[in-house]
Amino acid sequence: MDSFLIEGGEPLKGVIEVSGSKNAALPIIMASIAVDDEVVYTNVPDLRDIHTTINLLNILGREAELRDGVVTVKNGALSMEAPYDLVKTMRASVLCLGPLLARLGEAKVSLPGGCAIGARPVDQHLSALEKMGASFDLENGYIHGRCPGGLKGAHIRFDFPTVGGTENVLMAACLARGETVLENAAREPEIVDLANFLIRCGARIEGQGTTMMHVWGVERLRGCSYRIMPDRIEAGTFLIAAGVTGGELLLRHCPLGDMSAVVDKLRAAGMVITEVPEGVLARVGEEGLKCVDVCTRPHPGFPTDMQAQFMVLMCCAQGSGLVEENIFENRFMHVQELVRMGADIHVTGSSAMVRGGRKLTGAPVMASDLRAGAALVLAGLAAEGETRVQRIYHVDRGYEHLADKLSAVGARIRRVKEAD
Ligand code: EPZ
Repeated sequence: MDSFLIEGGEPLKGVIEVSGSKNAALPIIMASIAVDDEVVYTNVPDLRDIHTTINLLNILGREAELRDGVVTVKNGALSMEAPYDLVKTMRASVLCLGPLLARLGEAKVSLPGGCAIGARPVDQHLSALEKMGASFDLENGYIHGRCPGGLKGAHIRFDFPTVGGTENVLMAACLARGETVLENAAREPEIVDLANFLIRCGARIEGQGTTMMHVWGVERLRGCSYRIMPDRIEAGTFLIAAGVTGGELLLRHCPLGDMSAVVDKLRAAGMVITEVPEGVLARVGEEGLKCVDVCTRPHPGFPTDMQAQFMVLMCCAQGSGLVEENIFENRFMHVQELVRMGADIHVTGSSAMVRGGRKLTGAPVMASDLRAGAALVLAGLAAEGETRVQRIYHVDRGYEHLADKLSAVGARIRRVKEAD
């Protein structure tokens, strides 16, 4: 397993290119299952989860490949089983359920296990698809879905705005008979990107980006080419990298319009974030950083995927701030690792009180999940001395060429091989 070795204390200065969005690319590439002919995707990030998705599509009978940021998916006789060995490495594999049911009338997908940040059940996905005529059996750890007569439109009301649930139902509804209403739908920008892709393929969708979506089923979805949107979480992570190192970064292709909640909080904490013709400029203001409270919410609220990274910024700021995690039940795994680096953080239930103003010191730490790993890299960049972030395969899932991008703007970071 690889680690990152980081010598902290360098202010980062320069230009960073924001890559395509992992959380848009995964459902949008998975949606090719529901498309009749070839699809070409551009601006696709080179990430472990993208390779996993491509492996899954090939196992399902599609011919998929990634080359220089372009994913091509060719038609092929579809099979309906997504195997455990693959699904266990990427929960988002469950997003093949909706399109497979829509295309084949049957799907057998390994029940995705939980992960470090929570149990992450898929009950909302299944109950919605049942309303559309599917039935499910749990067989030896697999969800076996059947809808022999095909899916039919239904009025779906989610108990809460589940991102994956909205995506699965949206893809299924495109080929269902009749109209599907998705009430209390997720509003994340990645949902809008998925809807725009499906519309490009001939789907009839309205209301994407709002809590009420309407889908009218069509006979088939035709191939097209599509450019994946930029990654707002990667971008937010780099904005914070400028903050915790006291540097100045220019982000190119930064989707500022999708990042209001994050940018508002960063500005309230004392960062100066300016849109310029070349991109978005980020640095710490004259008054320095100060702690602010933050609580994670579904979009357009503050994204849970930025919670760990924001906590590191609070460690480097004056005062104290309360960080509340409302989306996942166990998303403070980074706290103990930050405490080992000298942070003053106390967790009570779903809240963490951060007392800033203390210099972080380098230490060996371990990534437990994707965003916790990213947060530990940020902490290493800010800390005095050397930090070794272990198990960075978590980070490789969601950050394209992270060490290269950071080194190019002055970070002293390198990937080292660890004995397994
Ligand atoms: C997506 O996960 C993202 N993953 C996550 O990003 C992100 O944190 C999350 O949305 C919230 O924004 C991808 O897009 C691939 P949810 P998803 O369904 O779809 C519970 C990252 O770091 N829930 O909105 O799984 C669930 O347990 C990853 O890039 C149910 O109880 O999120 C969680 O507590 C991490 N039943 C909450 O809802 C269900 O049927 C949010 O889940 C579905 C979800």
